[in-house]
Amino acid sequence: MTKNNQLNKNLLICGDNLKALDDLKKKGIKVDLIYLDPPFFSNRHYEVVWGDEAEVRSFKDRWAGGINVYIEWIRERVIKMYDLLKDTGSLYFHCDWHASHYLKVMMDSIFGINNIMNEIIWQRTKSHNDPKQYGRIHDSILFYTKSKTYTWNQQYLPYDEEYIKKAFRYVAENGRKYQTQPLHASKPGGDTHYKWKGQYPPIGRYWAFSKENMKKMDEEGRIAYSKKGTPRYKIYADESKGRILQDMWIDIPGVHLMGKERLGFPTQKPEALLERIVKASSNKENLILDPFCGCGTAMAVAKKLGRRWIGIDISPTAIFLIEQRLKKLGARKSKEFDTIGMPTTLSELKALEPFEFQNWVINEMKAKHSKKFVSDMGIDGYYDKTIFTDPTGIQVKQSEKVGRNVVDNFETALKRGEYEKGFIVAFSFTRGAHEEVARVKGKGLDIKLVRVEDLLLGKVKI
Ligand SMILES: C[S@@+](CC[C@H](N)C(=O)[O-])C[C@H]1O[C@@H](n2cnc3c(N)ncnc32)[C@H](O)[C@@H]1O
Repeated sequence: MTKNNQLNKNLLICGDNLKALDDLKKKGIKVDLIYLDPPFFSNRHYEVVWGDEAEVRSFKDRWAGGINVYIEWIRERVIKMYDLLKDTGSLYFHCDWHASHYLKVMMDSIFGINNIMNEIIWQRTKSHNDPKQYGRIHDSILFYTKSKTYTWNQQYLPYDEEYIKKAFRYVAENGRKYQTQPLHASKPGGDTHYKWKGQYPPIGRYWAFSKENMKKMDEEGRIAYSKKGTPRYKIYADESKGRILQDMWIDIPGVHLMGKERLGFPTQKPEALLERIVKASSNKENLILDPFCGCGTAMAVAKKLGRRWIGIDISPTAIFLIEQRLKKLGARKSKEFDTIGMPTTLSELKALEPFEFQNWVINEMKAKHSKKFVSDMGIDGYYDKTIFTDPTGIQVKQSEKVGRNVVDNFETALKRGEYEKGFIVAFSFTRGAHEEVARVKGKGLDIKLVRVEDLLLGKVKI
């Protein structure tokens, strides 16, 4: 995978980042930028049942044992991230009021108290109704660098109309708006104490440019003169980069307000937020790591901005979603990126959370996720007419020895949903289940029993 400490391809890793970070270290990988957006110690179980397909996307942020358990859990991971970071690298830790104060102390102990560059306030929404307290509308992003020599590209915000009106008060003959700044300096830059158009610089000061350069600038129309004839340098509004970005980011709304980007992943972050971070703290071809990558916002932004990337997430559903997101951006799996760590054995599949297992099966079967809250109880997935002309339903059971009663219940569910075919996917089936399938076939209903093992081995022909 690595050549001269370089990644040949971008990498999507499904698994606990505690181990994945170790594996990256063993491979000698070093990264330029880390963005992490872990569970926030919010004591919630985030679950979103999304869109037409009603796929459950979920993760837990519950910590038995309280804040100390959470901080230790994240500390051991951040230590590994610190190890992977190049000396010129930066790390952005996305958190919120639940634990930001504990996290800062923990982070200072790893990076050094002088290596926090900013606590960025990101206002993710305009208002929030939190009874009997002020509305909680911001997240915090702790920005640390590994040393004082770090990659930094100054970011700017465009001027707004009001600012331009106030700050660029003058209008040149060609209609361009400008402001002026003094042309004198406190230190001589060579022979810079001379008379310019009848004026010497103010007492104790020098002109900022040589006579030759002043002449050139004057010919180019870059010098304005006050009523008293004092020369000043012209800065045009349309040439200015904008306002230097500060540590309060109030111009990027959360994803819930930006329908277009929304993938239905709980806690998805906006691309504009990641773009800002990636542009400020990395250059083209640099390697970016997101060890809690969720639905892959950092990966999508890295791809768009020409950076290389590694994403890690423990949820196979999240990894599958990222693959789809990257595909839409034209990133081809196995050419541009590899995915590793997805469940490949029966015991790994048995250990998945039930919703993860169900999503895995429906995705492997290349079917659609059922609309949960409609009347088709017992149908977890289905094929539409692009695959089968007959309406076809799927039921998923994360169990062994699925028996006659399951087939019976599925028969009822299929009839209720007016399906004509069906698949039951499980680890194994009893003889009774097979007999029941033969019985319903006699009644014109086609049910197929699919073993997870066959699905894993690619033996299932749809
Ligand atoms: C807040 S979400 C990240 C959202 C992401 N920034 C985005 O824009 O989509 C946190 C993610 O961390 C993942 N996660 C939690 N514990 C993990 C672990 N130990 N290793 C890897 N990923 C983990 C969860 O599955 C979840 O997808």
